[in-house]
Amino acid sequence: MMPNLDGFGLLNELRSDLRTKTVPVILLSARAGEDSRVEGIEQFADDYLVKPFTARELLVRVSTHLKMAKVRSEAAELERRLRAHADLERNRLRESFTLAPAAMALLSGPDHRVTFLNSAFLALTGRQTTTQVLGKTVRESFPELEGQGLNELLNQVYQTGEPFVAKQREVRLRRKGQDETVYASFSCHPMRDVDGNVEGILVHAVEVTAEVLARTTLETRVKERTAELSEAEERLRILSGRLLRAQDDERRRLARELHDSAGQMLAALKMNLVPLEEGAAQQSPRLGQLAANGIELVDDLSKELRTMSYLLHPPLLDEAGLPSALRWYVEGFSERSGIQVTLAVDPQLARLSREVETTIFRIVQESLTNIHRHSGSKEAELRIVHDALQTRVEIEDRGRGMMPNTSNEERPMRVGVGIQGMQERVRQLGGEFKIQSGKDGTTVIVVLPTGAATPQLAD
Ligand SMILES: Nc1ncnc2c1ncn2[C@@H]1O[C@H](COP(=O)(O)OP(=O)(O)OP(=O)(O)O)[C@@H](O)[C@H]1O
Ligand SMILES: [Mg+2]
Repeated sequence: MMPNLDGFGLLNELRSDLRTKTVPVILLSARAGEDSRVEGIEQFADDYLVKPFTARELLVRVSTHLKMAKVRSEAAELERRLRAHADLERNRLRESFTLAPAAMALLSGPDHRVTFLNSAFLALTGRQTTTQVLGKTVRESFPELEGQGLNELLNQVYQTGEPFVAKQREVRLRRKGQDETVYASFSCHPMRDVDGNVEGILVHAVEVTAEVLARTTLETRVKERTAELSEAEERLRILSGRLLRAQDDERRRLARELHDSAGQMLAALKMNLVPLEEGAAQQSPRLGQLAANGIELVDDLSKELRTMSYLLHPPLLDEAGLPSALRWYVEGFSERSGIQVTLAVDPQLARLSREVETTIFRIVQESLTNIHRHSGSKEAELRIVHDALQTRVEIEDRGRGMMPNTSNEERPMRVGVGIQGMQERVRQLGGEFKIQSGKDGTTVIVVLPTGAATPQLAD
């Protein structure tokens, strides 16, 4: 027995020393009764044995307590390691959040108190120091967000536990004392505790102001260019209309000129040559023959001139209308080209406006010329169907068809002035123009609104 220390005193000493703190202690005492036992246990004894006890019982107790102490210390060690590991992970996570290029902040509780934020978040929100924000609610730190629906959005995420993702959202921020409108893509993810209850929100945001502004500038520029382009197209359309009109007028004027001036002169020349031939023949048969040849040449020239004049602008078109002019033209064309042309003109076809008649005549002229020059077909068909609303013209051949200029089907085939001119004439009158072409031949189809006349072409 120790002279100055009883069992409880010893126990006290052992428990207060770190080295012996966890050593299991069994108090052996002659003091029986519940009070003594409770007192012993209260002093952090691991067990209390009352004499008399058997050695066996003591040994069993000692061995049990040793085992328990071992298990306890192993558990404590495991816990220590787990804690250290968790601390390490937490620190790593914080570090990567801190260094992340995207803005991040952790909000806690229903009033969204900022418990963590990284420097990218400070930069995005335009705040100078962490202390301006940390530990405060979003409302306190960012009063400018009021009325922009963002606080409501955080409430919603907190209450529903549903994440929210925004793309290129406009946000007004007070950055370094200046009001700024920025664009950000951000997400708000609910954070849950071990029981699954929402305890906070992780905010993750990336500023995309530069991209959005670049895109809007580009869109505005595209819009401006498109407007300019359609203005230019409109001017071009008016110009083409004027050119076509001038061309038609010029042809009409030239035709009249050839007919009236040169034609009349040739007629006068022939009138002079006839008596000349008679006189010359009386003097010398050779001179008479020469004069007769001269008259023949003048006749041929007159005919040629007349054909040229009529081709430039058939007087029949103005006088007798489209069907007669077409019939006359097709006859001459068949004769010159050897191509058999079937003409199917709607008997209902009334007189149309001068422009529509001229347009149809020019289209037939160009299409038949193309058939002659490019198709290799020996036959062609011209159909005109007419009703109160529209006039439909089709010129069909059985030739080789138009060759696409490349194997790439997407690329349009080469068109010359002829096809473009036809297209333009039809466009001027608000009609439709199309060409169907294949190995069995080509068909030019034109639909014009009946009675169409463009303001700038009308007399
Ligand atoms: N009926 C047709 N059959 C086969 N190919 C055709 C036919 N019509 C036009 N083409 C093809 O389309 C091309 C364009 O025709 P377009 O009338 O525009 O020009 P072009 O006849 O060559 O010259 P121009 O400007 O003198 O009219 C022609 O070169 C020809 O290859
Ligand atoms: Mg042509």
